[in-house]
Amino acid sequence: MSFREHVEKLEKAGKKTVVKKTVSKKLEASAIINELSDKAVLFEKIKESEFRASANIFPTKQAIADYFGCKVSDLIPTITRAIENPSKPEIVESKNAPCQEVEIEANNVDLDKLPILFHCPNDGGNFISSGVVVAKDSQYGQNLDFHRAMQIGKNKLSVRIVKTRHFDQFLERQKKMPIAMCIGNGAEVLVAAATSVDLGKNELEIANSLKPIRVVKAKTFDAYIPADCEFVLEGTISLEEKAGEGPFVDLTETQDIVRQEPVFTVTKITHRKGAIWQALLPGKLEHKVLMGMPREPTIFRKVNEAGVKCIDVNVNPGGCSWLHVRVKIDKRNEEDGKKAIMAAFEGHKSCKHIFVVDKDIDIYDDQTVEWAMATRFQADKQFTMKGRERGSSLDPSADPEGHLTMKCGFDLTAPLETKGKNFGKAEFPKADLKKYL
Ligand SMILES: Cc1cc2nc3c(=O)[nH]c(=O)nc-3n(C[C@H](O)[C@H](O)[C@H](O)COP(=O)(O)O)c2cc1C
Repeated sequence: MSFREHVEKLEKAGKKTVVKKTVSKKLEASAIINELSDKAVLFEKIKESEFRASANIFPTKQAIADYFGCKVSDLIPTITRAIENPSKPEIVESKNAPCQEVEIEANNVDLDKLPILFHCPNDGGNFISSGVVVAKDSQYGQNLDFHRAMQIGKNKLSVRIVKTRHFDQFLERQKKMPIAMCIGNGAEVLVAAATSVDLGKNELEIANSLKPIRVVKAKTFDAYIPADCEFVLEGTISLEEKAGEGPFVDLTETQDIVRQEPVFTVTKITHRKGAIWQALLPGKLEHKVLMGMPREPTIFRKVNEAGVKCIDVNVNPGGCSWLHVRVKIDKRNEEDGKKAIMAAFEGHKSCKHIFVVDKDIDIYDDQTVEWAMATRFQADKQFTMKGRERGSSLDPSADPEGHLTMKCGFDLTAPLETKGKNFGKAEFPKADLKKYL
């Protein structure tokens, strides 16, 4: 299924708000998307553009599970299977690729005509926030990554590339290279792009194993792109040309700083007929779920590999869906909590705090996790201070230069042998209130 088909499906099911009134891409559209929170929206008329825009299409795990046709509890095994069994997508010719139905040549490229939203009052400019970058390297093949991009001219964007990302490694090797930024993708492409897999693994093949996709050759270089996406910006990115990127409200809902980032010069735009722009509100639900959820399978795997029975993982929104991880284990040895903490850090290197709980604790319920901390945790025995290490560039409290941050873990599991009180939550007798009231 494509982004387009899914948007249409939501509309038929009455699960989408359609805004018919003309809305400005500057601050007005983002305000409406924010008010609607987890409700999908389609803007029929954007004041500055001939194109429609849509948002909040995948704001929850439930929405992504619905797209994949599975239960929320099956997301970790589904993504794990796709990572372990990538498969080749169907290749189609350009004439059969919706994303290349309309072609705009270099001299007509004008990013002002696209509904690139200006999200927050103090942002540095209009930002593409749902763009999936396809890049190719002679040794490692193709890679897929998300990279936000700030519009700095009619055909130029400065692109935020976090150090050590695979795309960063490609660019460091090539200095200047062609890329395609694809906008308007289904959840299989979005989730695959957000996974962190071994260098050299083509995430389009992971996407295809999540749900079959079609790919087509890009117009300006030898790489395959999702054939059913809505827009493709093709061009070159260079380390020799840099420009300020930011400020930008990021995942933590705080404002990220201005950095000098590589410039992407767009030399061709292709799009579907009647294309729909995929807007994505930074820091809000859709951004959070797409960042955090694809890390859960890697954490799950690492904890099991460490010999601890992992039951579930939640990279929870309260921790910005990035800095905090909750791990539910079936504790069999006294050391399992600590082992799970160390293994979970291996599965998500940007994480700052890990919380490990027993199998009776609901890791989606903040109060229950806090209850486990209040009743089962003794800091002198169950707190692990991992040390000051490189963490996330998104954490405002980390050292701004090297992103050094103190990483630690909380083992909130009960001891296997209790000497005093019981650790289970007592069950009260049940009553059928209809009989009494
Ligand atoms: C919505 C969204 C926006 C993102 N924006 C950026 C970004 O601007 N720069 C960046 O380096 N990573 C960004 N990321 C994270 C990377 O795309 C992601 O971690 C990816 O898995 C890294 O892939 P790699 O292991 O191939 O390097 C974003 C992720 C999501 C889900």
